[in-house]
Amino acid sequence: MAEKSFKYVIVGGGVAAGYAAREFVKLGLQPGELAIISKEGVAPYERPALSKAYLFPESPARLPGFHVCVGSGGERLLLEWYEEKGIELILTTEIVKADLAAKTLTTASGELFNYQILIIATGSTVIRLSDFGVQGADAKNIFYLREIDDADKLIEVIKEKKNGKAVIVGGGYIGLELGAALRINNLDVTMVYPEPWCMPRLFTSGIASFYEGYYANKGIKIIKGTVAVGFNSDSTGAVKEVELKDGRVLDADIVVVGVGGRPLTTLFKGQVEEEKGGIKTDAFFKTSVPDVYAVGDVATFPLKLYNELRRVEHVDHARKSAEQAVKAIKAHEEGNAIDEYDYLPYFYSRSFDLSWQFYGDNVGDTVLFGDNNPESPKPKFGTYWIKDGKVIGAFLEGGAPEENKAIAKVARVQPSVENLDHLANEGLSFASKI
Ligand code: FDA
Ligand code: NAD
Repeated sequence: MAEKSFKYVIVGGGVAAGYAAREFVKLGLQPGELAIISKEGVAPYERPALSKAYLFPESPARLPGFHVCVGSGGERLLLEWYEEKGIELILTTEIVKADLAAKTLTTASGELFNYQILIIATGSTVIRLSDFGVQGADAKNIFYLREIDDADKLIEVIKEKKNGKAVIVGGGYIGLELGAALRINNLDVTMVYPEPWCMPRLFTSGIASFYEGYYANKGIKIIKGTVAVGFNSDSTGAVKEVELKDGRVLDADIVVVGVGGRPLTTLFKGQVEEEKGGIKTDAFFKTSVPDVYAVGDVATFPLKLYNELRRVEHVDHARKSAEQAVKAIKAHEEGNAIDEYDYLPYFYSRSFDLSWQFYGDNVGDTVLFGDNNPESPKPKFGTYWIKDGKVIGAFLEGGAPEENKAIAKVARVQPSVENLDHLANEGLSFASKI
């Protein structure tokens, strides 16, 4: 079988891979030095678009419009860009075996790749309901969303099931973004999740009540505190009903499931140190194996600000960790040192006309400020998280760019506060003064 050798190989062709490629070029890359091997059939793109503008019924986003690095305001890296730079973009190719001691990767078709330096950027996969034995979960028209092919299949069925009924299982990021996207496509949407409020990983009940109210006003039905335990199909094998644990049965033409992600580390099991479900790295994204780096969703890295190892499944970190790893690789080659990764967690989401940002850490006491009435014509509200007398996290819905910058600064600076009632009254103006 064919064998190819590269100085650098990135396994995975998602967000982190694209930003790493750009950084390599910035810092000096010779043609033929870098290969990116991706299971997907398209060049790296900004994955967040898949659950938002990609699903719009009118003027949807389409490739090549959202290839990296447009998401952070950079130049789009089209297929030709990789060609011009002499980067081998090996698409529709899955690595099925990695031998970190021998420094080789094997593809599904048996092709062998040798590398000097490996960057693991395999991202996450979805958790499936069939993973925990939910009856009928393999029926047709039950969808998960991770890659562009998943989104294309969903779009086809949205067209086919015009004005039909959709059930969304899960109240996290996918649940909330897809609930909105399907509603905009005029489907009759019901969301089901086990917790007392949506996005419990991040939202307080005060934040969640706004979004739940807003979604209800858009005609979305929300069923909380129960889970889907089974699916019934019609004679063609297509889903027609969702059975809930509380005994209710919902009609469904389409089901979208978003019950969490799982980092794709299986290729490297037993060969590299792991921590908190991911591949353990240092502040330069170096793993426990020499010449092997891990970035993006798969990396468990030291979050300096909180003196703790964390894994982050969001795009801003995918971009920045990739850049940091490449900087570290190039600096090492030149005998230079770079600063440790000093990340401020940043998450965001958009749905309907809404848009929120969060910076920092969501532990400790909380203070809600502003107008979180879902009926308001222009709602704007936020929440601060306070630990040991300091504001360490901040959330804002409907913020202008300079206001979002202000809450980011608060989370980074961690100003002291004495009186939480005063903080609630000051609201956003507290952040604007920092
Ligand atoms: P990413 O998943 O981007 O890429 C991994 C790549 O590796 C994929 O192309 C995959 O096919 C490939 N791969 C895996 N195993 C392989 C193998 N064995 N061989 C070859 N290739 C392999 N975040 C955020 O902050 N804001 C947002 O709005 C959103 N929105 C959003 C929407 C949707 C639908 C999803 C699925 C995710 C988001 N995210 C997000 C999360 C964000 O997209 C995610 O954190 C980054 O894409 C992670 O980047 P990575 O490069 O680590 O993985
Ligand atoms: P998530 O962890 O955000 O949400 C999972 C949700 O699943 C939980 O909140 C819970 O409500 C629900 N759940 C768990 N078990 C369930 C069950 N048995 N039945 C019904 N509901 C159940 O995960 P996700 O929404 O699936 O997102 C997957 C990945 O994509 C994550 O890495 C996420 O960060 C990423 N993503 C991020 C964004 C963003 O940052 N804006 C947008 C989309 C996706």
